[in-house]
Amino acid sequence: MKPTRLALAAFACLTLAACGGVDPNSPMGQRQAIFKQMLNTSEDLGGMLRGRLAFSAPRFVAGSAELDQLSRTPWQHFPQIKDEGDSRAKDDVWQRQLRFQELARELEGATAALVVASAASPLHSAELVAPMQRVENSCKACHEEFRAY
Ligand code: HEC
Repeated sequence: MKPTRLALAAFACLTLAACGGVDPNSPMGQRQAIFKQMLNTSEDLGGMLRGRLAFSAPRFVAGSAELDQLSRTPWQHFPQIKDEGDSRAKDDVWQRQLRFQELARELEGATAALVVASAASPLHSAELVAPMQRVENSCKACHEEFRAY
């Protein structure tokens, strides 16, 4: 392959997101990006409570608010009919929509409760462990039922 063609191939990969991957503007690309952000944010929060990161009250407050906002946004990017492509979503998402929505509401309730807990002043990290656990359990519960791997 000539250098110019290599450069072209590299450019094509950049524009098509992760090479061979999902169009970032598609519903699938958008929900996967939101889920990744949710993971980053919740890992930082969990890390602060487990001692992997230094606990900072302002950062915890900001992170829980961000997670609460994010937790409301992936669901609109699941279309009515299952989209083709590299999705980890099981067919069950579309076959058992009521249950899927129920677990989405559970996560939203858990992140809202985390925001309430993080409004305490002074803020003690020990009091955030249980509400954070509820958030993590909500992620896990839905993945076990609705994510392929
Ligand atoms: C109501 C169900 C549900 C809840 C709650 C949920 N997820 Fe997911 N998650 C999914 C489904 C379905 C997929 C697969 C999406 C796809 O590939 O189309 C997914 C995918 C992901 C992915 C992979 C994204 C990628 O790169 O492809 C991550 C990371 C993730 N979720 C993190 C989280 C975190 C963190 C939480 C909790 C804060 C959470 N999820 C809560 C259903 C859920």
